[in-house]
Amino acid sequence: MNSKRQVIISSLFVLASQFTIGQNITIPIETRDNATCFQVDKDNRLWNVYFGKKLAKKSEYEYISSQSHFSDANAGKYNSAYTPAGTWNLSEPALQVTHHDGNPSTDLKYIGHKTFNGKNFSLNVIQLADSVYKINVELHYKTWPDVNVIEQWAEITNNEAGDITLNKYASANLFFSGTDFFVTGFQGEYLKEMQPSEEKLKQGIKTIESKLGTRAMLLGTPNFILSFDKPANENSGLTVLGHLAWSGNFKMEFEIESNKNLRLIAGINPYASNYQLAKGKTFVTPSLIYTISENGTGQASRQLQSWARNNRILNGNGERQTLLNNWEATYFDFNETKLAGLVKNTADLGLDMFLLDDGWFGNKYPRNNDDAGLGDWQENKKKLPNGLGYLVKEAQNNKIKFGIWIEPEMVNPQSNLYNEHLDWVIRQPQRPEKLYRNQLVLDLSNPAVQDYVYSIVDTLFRKNPALSFIKWDCNAVIYNAWSAHLQASKQPQSQLYVDYVKGLYTVLQRIRAKYPSVDMMLCSGGGGRADYEFLKYFTEFWPSDNTEPVERIFLQWNYSYFFPSIATDCHVTNWGKQPLKFKIDVASMGKLGFDIVPDHLSATDLAFCKEAIKNYKSFKDIVWHGTQYRLASPYENPYASLMYVNENRTNAVMFTYLHSNRFFDGTVSNRPIKINGLKVNMLYTVKELNVYPGTKSSIDENQKFTGDFLMNVGLNPDLSLSRTSVVLLLTAVD
Ligand code: GLA
Repeated sequence: MNSKRQVIISSLFVLASQFTIGQNITIPIETRDNATCFQVDKDNRLWNVYFGKKLAKKSEYEYISSQSHFSDANAGKYNSAYTPAGTWNLSEPALQVTHHDGNPSTDLKYIGHKTFNGKNFSLNVIQLADSVYKINVELHYKTWPDVNVIEQWAEITNNEAGDITLNKYASANLFFSGTDFFVTGFQGEYLKEMQPSEEKLKQGIKTIESKLGTRAMLLGTPNFILSFDKPANENSGLTVLGHLAWSGNFKMEFEIESNKNLRLIAGINPYASNYQLAKGKTFVTPSLIYTISENGTGQASRQLQSWARNNRILNGNGERQTLLNNWEATYFDFNETKLAGLVKNTADLGLDMFLLDDGWFGNKYPRNNDDAGLGDWQENKKKLPNGLGYLVKEAQNNKIKFGIWIEPEMVNPQSNLYNEHLDWVIRQPQRPEKLYRNQLVLDLSNPAVQDYVYSIVDTLFRKNPALSFIKWDCNAVIYNAWSAHLQASKQPQSQLYVDYVKGLYTVLQRIRAKYPSVDMMLCSGGGGRADYEFLKYFTEFWPSDNTEPVERIFLQWNYSYFFPSIATDCHVTNWGKQPLKFKIDVASMGKLGFDIVPDHLSATDLAFCKEAIKNYKSFKDIVWHGTQYRLASPYENPYASLMYVNENRTNAVMFTYLHSNRFFDGTVSNRPIKINGLKVNMLYTVKELNVYPGTKSSIDENQKFTGDFLMNVGLNPDLSLSRTSVVLLLTAVD
């Protein structure tokens, strides 16, 4: 999080103005189309008075608050820009502090604000301070106007005579005036990640949170869709897509207050997380990132995806490596010869990289199953007598790259590491251990553990400089939260959840300082982890171990609200009864990979596979760097359709899948699907790709359509029970 400060300080484009000080101040924070506005009252308190369309005349923001007459409803006033606790405001707080003398009261007054202008962003900082106790709060609003994105966080500084305790320290405290609000959360569990659930908010607080510690998103994710006046719609309505960029416990509270307006308080989950802030120190909260659209979820996610590619994800606009992963091909059962065969298969298929998964390490406690070996990151001599180096060389001989799986935050009780460093393990020493997938979590709040985790990665690279990919897994949640390190260093145990995550970021920063560009996949037993703080360090994430292709259509659809396809890893596996073509077509909507034994494919499947990989390479640029349009929802139709369009709108690729076959006549394509994102007057040809050998495409590739026709009438991909997935390439002709 320090990097935020660095951006501010080091940006060459910064034009700092002095803090503006005074009363009756109006502070609009604008993006290209929208604005949120703050106002200081006569008592110097700061209120959030507006969230909506940007006003044409800036001076009129000043009059907004005079048009609403919400009374003080005993609980205090609801639209505080950052609600303090323990004084006159009794609504749900954003900030709750125990001061150095034990006093629990805080009241924040406006001190000043300033604006920095960067190349493609602005940063507004509003300073608040308590008038009795010396704490300062800076509210940071970083806006990317072109994509209507706001990243918001708070910085709390302790200038008191001693340490203070932060009991609640939210990232953001938003306020939306209105009457009907709909929120979609994305809950799930292992293999069922990112299941949307929408509800109309009623008076009271709806909470989306996690208390799982490491693998926080196993049950609930820090993503939401907020839609005003009606349920979320792809192409219409005021919509906010939000995301808390924090890789640990989080809490987002949506409160309909007694005037029916909506308050949102989002940040680190205060559950068991009182944080001691030493005198003179600043606590920087994680960011709440949100984008605003007046045209529904479609525009909102295009904005967020574009922002993420250009500003957030490591190498977000770069290249990625297609791969063959041995996990589902071999599980733990492999040896050097088997792997060398798969390396050769990888090259024959035309893929870029072979990824060696779990099971390659541990000697005294060999990793032949998931119950031993985690923590002992030395090659297993039986399986790999010539070490990783041999396989890396094999890959080089076959002109492909080599990647490797690690799960460095974890330990199996059956391991040397556990025997030697029990004090590094998160556990309650007086209680029985509770394992998750036979493993426990290492205590990343401990700098010695941070060094150890860093050294796992560093040693791999030092020994094998040609390594080009890391799959970083995390398969357990934190039970029995207790740290021997915090105890020994006399720090509160209630810092463990937060210091764990901070410790992990420290390790990742060190790794990236030394290995800035190597591709890294963020995995967590599937999609237990995918957030925009992690994605500063990772190039991609693994959405789910569920690779059943119909399930994947839904999963990838849901992830696409928040994440671009360049960061979404999609593999073809043996899951599902669908033909290979269907599986490859679905996986081609993200970063394509395979978890299969190519030698088990029939000759026709193998030939098709090679052809499909070639095709993928021909259009991957559009999928990775283009603009995505969700055309037909699988939730509303027996089919799903999505497309990607390149920047010039001259090339597009459209994917359509029949996911339900409850149609007695075998024909579902009775209507065209309206395309999006093309140029109205441009002429396009339509060509079907990935046509399975022995079948013929029913699409006439000589016919030309205007963008106008394709967008207003549409295109019929001609789905049927014998054509359950169709990939179409649209190319502009002169
Ligand atoms: C997790 C990952 C899988 C695989 C296994 C290995 O479940 O999600 O992709 O790497 O671990 O144990």
